[in-house]
Amino acid sequence: MGSTKFFVTLCVVPLLASSFCSAQLSATFYASTCPNLQTIVRNAMTGAVNGQPRLAASILRLFFHDCFVNGCDGSILLDDTATFTGEKNANPNRNSARGFEVIDTIKTRVEAACNATVSCADILALAARDGVVLRGGPSWTVPLGRRDARTASQSAANSQIPSPASSLATLISMFSAKGLSAGDMTALSGGHTIGFARCTTFRNRIYNDTNIDASFATTRRASCPASGGDATLAPLDGTQTRFDNNYYTNLVARRGLLHSDQELFNGGSQDALVRTYSTNGATFARDFAAAMVKMGNISPLTGRNGEIRRNCRVVN
Ligand code: HEM
Ligand SMILES: *[C@@H]1O[C@H](CO)[C@@H](O)[C@H](O)[C@H]1NC(C)=O
Ligand SMILES: *[C@@H]1O[C@H](CO)[C@@H](O)[C@H](O)[C@H]1NC(C)=O
Repeated sequence: MGSTKFFVTLCVVPLLASSFCSAQLSATFYASTCPNLQTIVRNAMTGAVNGQPRLAASILRLFFHDCFVNGCDGSILLDDTATFTGEKNANPNRNSARGFEVIDTIKTRVEAACNATVSCADILALAARDGVVLRGGPSWTVPLGRRDARTASQSAANSQIPSPASSLATLISMFSAKGLSAGDMTALSGGHTIGFARCTTFRNRIYNDTNIDASFATTRRASCPASGGDATLAPLDGTQTRFDNNYYTNLVARRGLLHSDQELFNGGSQDALVRTYSTNGATFARDFAAAMVKMGNISPLTGRNGEIRRNCRVVN
């Protein structure tokens, strides 16, 4: 705990805040201020995911979309109001981002146990990890101490979250802009081992792409017509209830659902890593966990920056 106190002391000195407090997350940040935090989050996630397995996927994606827009600062959780435009209606999120009620439930329980102490951004980081674990994926220690943004950016959400039409070069450069390597990008894309996508996000792929397994395309076309049915869901992975390495096996078989998925195995720089992950689930699990920690470190607000939101949907 000595190091935590030292950290807090440094961070209350405004002059030092920017230089010392940025990205100084710590696994024990709430050890004395909210000792039951991890149990509360895990229990709530267990209940939510037992009731609806997809919620593990939905919350993992919320964390990705939070971190890619001005850092992991809970900005995606803010509701739009008459006077505030947040990120929920940005193109990558509208009619798509989901799971917010689970975060609300967790926040309510955390506030009851440790009032005004734990940020929504940290709750999301823990919940994303727990969802992965609950679907059979790897576990990792989540560095904590993020604070919540008082702002959000719809335009940054539109421009900085990659589209499923992206080329490999675009994916690599958009992750690189966040300090993540091409290998991190390929490992993190394995998040698509769970969850669903809407027809509108993969229609062009199943009708127009040529690097696609013919029988897979036929199957997917049956429930995603060339026009209409935009919201019809398909699993991102044939074993979407399990967090496994089957996503990569699919890619090698040219059965990636999104155009962007198949870009990882289309004769380019990530082919070898995709092959490795397709035959070595433990390597994927290890790399995914490490890359999640890295993604969780994108520009956190720390020290005296931001706030501890009372309600994850509204700035205090
Ligand atoms: C590499 C660039 C990525 C692109 C282009 C991309 C794109 C997409 C798209 C289009 C969907 C379907 C959304 C819908 O139809 O509503 C989706 C779903 C999903 N994405 Fe990604 N994604 C990427 C990276 C990631 C990363 C890094 C993660 C997490 C580590 C992730 C986790 C998920 C999950 C879990 C779902 C399913 C959500 C649910 O079922 O509610 N994605 N993604
Ligand atoms: C929680 O903390 C806030 C801010 O410090 C305070 O205004 C509020 O009264 C507290 N609520 C409870 C139930 O202790
Ligand atoms: C296939 O590509 C063409 C040419 O870009 C486009 O006009 C058409 O809408 C695409 N078809 C589907 C089903 O997306």
